[in-house]
Amino acid sequence: MANLQGNTSSTVHQEYLSAAVEIARKAGEEIRTTFQLKKTIEIKSSPVDLVTETDQKVEKLIISFLQNKFPDHSFIGEESTEAGSHCELTDNPTWIIDPVDGTTNFVHCFPFVAVSIGLSINKENSVGVIYNPILDEMFTAIKGGGAFCNDKPISCSKQEDICKCLAIAEVGSSRDKAHVKTKLGNIAAVIDRGAHGLRSLGSAALNMCQVARGGGDVYFEHGIHCWDMAAGAVIVTEAGGTVIDPKGGPLDLMKRNVIAASSQQLAETISSCLTHIEFPRD
Ligand code: IPD
Repeated sequence: MANLQGNTSSTVHQEYLSAAVEIARKAGEEIRTTFQLKKTIEIKSSPVDLVTETDQKVEKLIISFLQNKFPDHSFIGEESTEAGSHCELTDNPTWIIDPVDGTTNFVHCFPFVAVSIGLSINKENSVGVIYNPILDEMFTAIKGGGAFCNDKPISCSKQEDICKCLAIAEVGSSRDKAHVKTKLGNIAAVIDRGAHGLRSLGSAALNMCQVARGGGDVYFEHGIHCWDMAAGAVIVTEAGGTVIDPKGGPLDLMKRNVIAASSQQLAETISSCLTHIEFPRD
């Protein structure tokens, strides 16, 4: 059970959070069991965009559990979308699920993989659960109720100065030459502006959790999907940070780009360093 201490949100939100935590733990057991085994791998949008049987199995497990509890809710899942399900965000409560965020890490037994479950209500990121079953870290947040890791409150660093920040970024899974060049150029630009260093965990969800717990100060990526960032957006915001569209303005979950930062000032400074890439909407 997630600790809801200090949480001022409604009982119904707490019910949603408890359900997401329960199924994230079950999904985590499956991931842990298969983590060290040899995986059967298929490729998706590019030769480095991978999927395993575990991704597909875990997504079915999560969706059937939540559908059973909340039959009127809608669902967006990474693997269901890949299999042809319609990916549409409406005002209806919508669970946005990445069964294994960090699939490449999972394939390589690099211990940064996460179950990511976000709930959007009226298009507002309302509940976020991110569970790393290998390190047994459960990050949770309800809008208005603070952010937690293993039931302990977490908060962003509040860092505003790019010259004192630890930045997190990813190259992602597109191998389009122009995209890769721009992304590497963006990393170079942030380092040139004086950032203390650059990290890359290989999981958007866990990158956002590092910002939320004050381990990193800012994370930026172009080309991710709504399921990579839905849960993390609530957790970062509730930890006192900010999530924005890299071009400025509020985060658009379906627009495939994100800056998650410990402060608005740092988010804006990072934004000014970046060359932006547009992707087709989710
Ligand atoms: C990926 C990870 C990675 C990010 C990619 C995502 P997946 O998600 O979050 O860190 O760079 O853009 O696609 O495919 O492992 O669920």
